[in-house]
Amino acid sequence: MLELAAVNSGYGETQVLHGMSLTARAGRVMAILGRNGAGKSTTLKTIMGLLPRTAGDIRFEGQPIDRHPYEIAKRGIAYVPETRDIFPSLTVRENLELTAKRFGGGGWTMDRVLELFPRLGERMANGGTQLSGGEQQMLAIARALLMNPRLLILDEPTEGLAPIIVQLIHDKLQELKAEGLSMIIVEQNFGFATSLADDVVVVGKGQIVWEGSAAEIRADSDTQHRWLGV
Ligand SMILES: Nc1ncnc2c1ncn2[C@@H]1O[C@H](COP(=O)(O)OP(=O)(O)OP(=O)(O)O)[C@@H](O)[C@H]1O
Ligand SMILES: [Mg+2]
Repeated sequence: MLELAAVNSGYGETQVLHGMSLTARAGRVMAILGRNGAGKSTTLKTIMGLLPRTAGDIRFEGQPIDRHPYEIAKRGIAYVPETRDIFPSLTVRENLELTAKRFGGGGWTMDRVLELFPRLGERMANGGTQLSGGEQQMLAIARALLMNPRLLILDEPTEGLAPIIVQLIHDKLQELKAEGLSMIIVEQNFGFATSLADDVVVVGKGQIVWEGSAAEIRADSDTQHRWLGV
């Protein structure tokens, strides 16, 4: 579904990705793991056209993707960044409506995202800044779903959240997985990531250093220790 082949990218003079290659398959969940600064977020930003690629090839459903974030979103990839990027001056309703207006017209409607996250329904009139971290993450995911993606990409969806909210986000992503939505999840939370994922890749210094199944890495304490410091 999504293929990166020998991709280089970075920030100005600083090259961060060195021959990044990975394949995310349709109907599956892939976790991207790795230590701080390994290049996980850089990989996602490069996929989304937010950073210039200096070498290599990225294909979505067999077709090359160009470097325009809006076009990439229109093609069917929704991205929830680490920063969540809620519009703070807009209410929950406005945040959702804005996305529905730009990208709507698929199976995901306002009603359906509120069914998934009833909590947001109680917060419709609240501004983005009045939300808890967990509510902001729910809003960010709800907004991504309103784009009717075929691939949902999440950067550290559990970062800074209380355990009970982490569990809730886990259950909701599990529901989406059961419906067949393809996902790529970057996570520091090893248990969270490997319980959701089918496939796992580990990034070290801007390239893939390990790949296998979630079950394999759960049973492989050497790899966990060496590349993740778990
Ligand atoms: N805006 C930036 N400008 C310059 N260098 C950056 C920038 N953002 C990240 N880097 C560098 O790129 C490297 C990879 O960063 P990246 O954010 O991809 O790591 P990560 O794997 O997502 O780590 P974390 O788990 O901390 O989120 C790091 O060395 C980081 O310092
Ligand atoms: Mg990161």
